[in-house]
Amino acid sequence: MRSLLIIGSGGHGRSVLDCALATGEYGEIVFASNEDEPTPVPGYEILDERKLALSGIRDRFDAVAVAIGDNRARLLKTRALLACGISLLPLVHPRAYVSPLASVGAGSVVLAGAVVNAFAEVGAGCIVNTCAVVEHECRLGDGVHLSPGAIVAGGSSVGEGSWLCANSVVSDHVGICPRVTVGAGGCVIHDISEPGVYVGVPVRKVGGLCAE
Ligand SMILES: CC(C)(COP(=O)(O)OP(=O)(O)OC[C@H]1O[C@@H](n2cnc3c(N)ncnc32)[C@H](O)[C@@H]1OP(=O)(O)O)[C@@H](O)C(=O)NCCC(=O)NCCS
Repeated sequence: MRSLLIIGSGGHGRSVLDCALATGEYGEIVFASNEDEPTPVPGYEILDERKLALSGIRDRFDAVAVAIGDNRARLLKTRALLACGISLLPLVHPRAYVSPLASVGAGSVVLAGAVVNAFAEVGAGCIVNTCAVVEHECRLGDGVHLSPGAIVAGGSSVGEGSWLCANSVVSDHVGICPRVTVGAGGCVIHDISEPGVYVGVPVRKVGGLCAE
């Protein structure tokens, strides 16, 4: 059985834990956090990430998952680990569907009930959360987060670091630039070319950059 280090022990870290357990592939799962007093995860050890040497990670763990909810922080950490030669496999819940014709990048997670359909391309460090859908021929840039129930319809693209909140919808063949947040339940029917926060049906811009 393999060992897994999950970096980040917050809400997303716990979802990643559930996904890892469901795969049945890991006999040992340990968290790492950079918080002074992380909220305990019952039954699991939380290491101080700041004291972990990269060589120690490589020696002790067979696999690493970056489970930080904030898109920018997750992508930075993902890229830093990859640059140091630590391989980050995609983690796919056994009850998600990823088409064999699709690709999912390093360190991305696809959670329960999600679908990544034919010829879709999911970048590195992405979250395709519970029951989210990436339809055929869509492209998600690196560090994108599709929250639970978000749907990206066929042929659309979502730029790096963007966040589609719960139950939001992107119509087909729409292009969204990097660093866009679409609020819960929002519907995007036209291209978005300016970073910022967009809400409503159809969406309208309500703010500048939003830290997820
Ligand atoms: C989009 C979102 C992130 C914006 O948060 P924010 O930057 O703090 O925005 P605010 O709460 O200040 O709202 C700004 C305006 O947009 C409106 N608004 C915010 N979210 C909205 C939404 N989802 N739908 C419609 N209007 C919304 C607010 O009412 C407010 O309007 P007002 O200025 O007329 O009062 C947040 O509202 C949201 O939708 N969160 C969902 C989170 C989620 O899906 N989490 C899942 C994690 S797995």
